[in-house]
Amino acid sequence: MRILLTGRNGQVGWELHRALAPLGDVVAFDRQGADLSRPETIAPLVASVQPDVIVNAAAYTAVDNAEKEEALAQRVNADAAGELAGAARKLKALLVHYSTDYVFDGRSAEPYREHDPVAPLNAYGRTKLAGEQAIEAAGGDWLTLRTTWVYGVRGRNFLRTMLRLGCERETLRVVADQIGVPTSARMIADLTAQVISRAQRERSDGAFASGLFHMTASGRTDWHGFASAIISAAREAGRLPIKTTSVEPITSREFPTPAARPGFSVLDNSRFDERFRLHRMDWREALALVMDDLLVGGSSLN
Ligand SMILES: NC(=O)c1ccc[n+]([C@@H]2O[C@H](COP(=O)([O-])OP(=O)(O)OC[C@H]3O[C@@H](n4cnc5c(N)ncnc54)[C@H](OP(=O)(O)O)[C@@H]3O)[C@@H](O)[C@H]2O)c1
Repeated sequence: MRILLTGRNGQVGWELHRALAPLGDVVAFDRQGADLSRPETIAPLVASVQPDVIVNAAAYTAVDNAEKEEALAQRVNADAAGELAGAARKLKALLVHYSTDYVFDGRSAEPYREHDPVAPLNAYGRTKLAGEQAIEAAGGDWLTLRTTWVYGVRGRNFLRTMLRLGCERETLRVVADQIGVPTSARMIADLTAQVISRAQRERSDGAFASGLFHMTASGRTDWHGFASAIISAAREAGRLPIKTTSVEPITSREFPTPAARPGFSVLDNSRFDERFRLHRMDWREALALVMDDLLVGGSSLN
């Protein structure tokens, strides 16, 4: 099997490069090799690789910057995603793509199901929704996996920010009125590899159906709960000079950002569970594994 991977230096892309390796030959591109801001370059690139599977881990993910750069975010997150889907269809390849809880407005009190009404609150969410729609419109064999609150050992993410601030400040003030599910990039990559394996079997048996799935860790928390878990795990591990003695809850109003965020981001994963029958770890269990990697392995926080 030949797999074309985009976004190889991102949180999920980095983990995918490793997780997909047992499935076959992974041809992995960074932004220079596959620039999604130039959607017109996608079809020739895909044709030159002739993949059986395309995994699109590249995205414009700077949520606040997207408010000012929506046209660029739209090219990367929507137009290029549509081009990848079209190129996959031509080659009869499978496209695996990621989307986000930010397609919802977060006003629900119940975990969102895949076909609940969408109403993005910000530019990033609009462009990711447009990407989902462009893929569906292109047709062919595709799976779009919506996930939430991604973090990992690399890149800009909440875990690394909290660990860095935890070494600098005695008190951390963290938003407690946004509820969601932290999902590690490694878990996303490992689940994706299993999903692809199964999807390829279904495709060769003529039993495959394209679709949209929610795929996150299990459980739920808020950013304050996530920060508290990170700081106490780091203190216990004893590898970092953690200064923080207090993690205080604040409201989103006290921490204004250019882009509005949904207050409730929990996704109902039952459709994913029924189709793929995989174990999704609780977010705390997955966090413990990442913390082991980061602290015991001694990765740099800089
Ligand atoms: N992060 C989250 O909390 C979150 C939540 C829900 C869903 N998702 C979705 O999950 C997927 C993976 O996200 P992630 O957290 O791994 O994101 P990430 O760490 O920000 O990685 C995104 C990757 O895309 C690359 N990229 C950006 N613009 C590009 C362009 N014009 N052409 C080619 N590559 C480009 C980046 O390249 P550089 O390394 O050069 O910057 C980076 O390697 C995305 O679809 C994202 O929307 C993320």
